[in-house]
Amino acid sequence: MMSGSAWAAQPPTPVHGQEGQDAPWVVTPQELVDTMLDMAAVQPGERLLDLGSGDGRVVITAAQRGLHAVGVELGAGLVTMSRERAAEAGVADRTEFVQTDLFEYDFAGADVITFFLLPELTIRLRPVFFDLRPGTRIVSNTWDMRGTEEDPEARGWDPDETIVLDPCPGFCSAHAWTVPAKVEGVWRLADGGELELRQRYQMVEGELRTAGRRITLQEGRLDGTVLSFRAAGIRYRAEVDGSAMTGTADQAAAWRATHQP
Ligand SMILES: C[S@@+](CC[C@H](N)C(=O)[O-])C[C@H]1O[C@@H](n2cnc3c(N)ncnc32)[C@H](O)[C@@H]1O
Repeated sequence: MMSGSAWAAQPPTPVHGQEGQDAPWVVTPQELVDTMLDMAAVQPGERLLDLGSGDGRVVITAAQRGLHAVGVELGAGLVTMSRERAAEAGVADRTEFVQTDLFEYDFAGADVITFFLLPELTIRLRPVFFDLRPGTRIVSNTWDMRGTEEDPEARGWDPDETIVLDPCPGFCSAHAWTVPAKVEGVWRLADGGELELRQRYQMVEGELRTAGRRITLQEGRLDGTVLSFRAAGIRYRAEVDGSAMTGTADQAAAWRATHQP
């Protein structure tokens, strides 16, 4: 971590590779920025937040795609440079650069979060991301949220998707996640049966207990608020809304379940 005096010693004009509070300033190649936004399937009108926004390139590219984009960056010179670049690109009205510590910033309200930070920061942010609104998309340059060897939760949160650019423009991997709904626990089915779910991020295991049978769930996973699994050869799918879920199943009637306190 950089001390206050080290911040004061930062060059007035940013220099690529310069130290930052928790990570240095190193840019994401434009090709990878484009890939990251494609992976998040960004839509005009959505809100994007780039954590540690450097020279503002992710924010500016998102604004050029019609999003309202916010960059959080501690380096004063980088914030000034980002605002100038946004004005030159004609997207000043759809961009905002906030000079603050990303760990002090409230991420709520973002539809898409992007970052290119060091592995230990990524792991520090993991519980914060997991608590965001289900369906929020997160995309990173290079570092994922599986954890490190020393981390007891190693292999924590696998990406939903990873893309590696070839040829590599310098940094070439991007990882994407969708924040899953929280479904851990026992759910009461409308037919009197029960669905018991155990959750590790987007991965779901458990048991369906219905009509005197106990069926182990297979291929259980969450894509935001959409839960899907297979039981006794039947594929089930449900939309989770807080403590209720409404579902469909192959060759079967629609179903409903409520979370047991
Ligand atoms: C690797 S650069 C990524 C820049 C940009 N997001 C990109 O992809 O091109 C990381 C940035 O995070 C900034 N940074 C480091 N620690 C920070 C903190 N605690 N709060 C806000 N910004 C921080 C650095 O100044 C640097 O610009």
